[in-house]
Amino acid sequence: MFFAFFILSSIYISKVNGWGVTGHALVAKLAQTMLTKESEKFVRNYLPWYTIGNLSMLASWPDIIVSPNTNPIDYLNWLWSRELHYVNVPDWTCNYDRNRDCNWTSRQRCVDGAIQNYTKQLADINQDNIQRQEALKFLVHFIGDIHQPLHAGFVGDKGGNLIRGNFFDKPTNLHALWDQLMIERRILLDFQNDENKYYDYLFNLLQTTYAHNISQWSKCPSDEESHYVACSTVWINENIELNCAYIYRDEDNKPMNISYEFRLGETYYNTRIGILEQRLIQGSVRLSGVINKIVKLQKHEHHRKKNNDYSFVSYVILFVENLINNY
Ligand code: ADE
Ligand code: ZN
Ligand code: ZN
Repeated sequence: MFFAFFILSSIYISKVNGWGVTGHALVAKLAQTMLTKESEKFVRNYLPWYTIGNLSMLASWPDIIVSPNTNPIDYLNWLWSRELHYVNVPDWTCNYDRNRDCNWTSRQRCVDGAIQNYTKQLADINQDNIQRQEALKFLVHFIGDIHQPLHAGFVGDKGGNLIRGNFFDKPTNLHALWDQLMIERRILLDFQNDENKYYDYLFNLLQTTYAHNISQWSKCPSDEESHYVACSTVWINENIELNCAYIYRDEDNKPMNISYEFRLGETYYNTRIGILEQRLIQGSVRLSGVINKIVKLQKHEHHRKKNNDYSFVSYVILFVENLINNY
């Protein structure tokens, strides 16, 4: 019964927000293939029983809980989490500033703050199991969201939600086009409408075209001061650069805005679908990277707690491991 509800709500939610169920499930499923054995065990420990060990089964949970369609009894209790799915920058500002855009010194209520916060919670051995499970569910979803370019969009058009027009003659808005329509079209036309076939294709891309990018994408640049587990400011800046150069530009390279109805089709789709696929794959690399790092840190933490005599040795090992990983 619960299971049926979950499946039904997943179908429903595909009309709301985030990457859409398909995008989030693809990111999570790809990420799971890159988990270490220890991370796989760690994740299973925090997954609810009905996921049968699949991260992808809960990847859309944060969208489901906030919608009256999918959570009619309880959605009001989750509305606080709605603003954690995105961050907006001033219109045509092509960089991200934590203080300006996410109120970093106080509230931090944006996808950047959420990722930093839930990363800490998931890594904190003093949190109870329920809290760490919730942190995992949010983290899987938000690391997907933060790789959808328009989840770091312009404030004046609410990340493309207010920019309306036609995509292959169907009325829509720019945000929905990136959450859903491009992925749907790709799967329908090139993969017989079979998500599993598309997953296999992306998995193959990850292991061939993008294999040499994985280690680079998994680490934070050394000047990323905020946090060395999840470099969310870097991921947001990647979106914003894409937004200024491609996402917010029509087929003639003209900027799109709320007072202009776009007409997009073959040219926009063909030149942008590769960007979308790279963002899905990058999202999965970052998600697995964050979980793997948390689990590794924890092993050292447990070791240190269990055997204080070795704490210095443990830190040296960790330090050397980090040196190796970062250079
Ligand atoms: N919902 C999803 N993304 C959004 C954004 N960038 N701004 C406002 N609402 C959103
Ligand atoms: Zn979302
Ligand atoms: Zn969205």
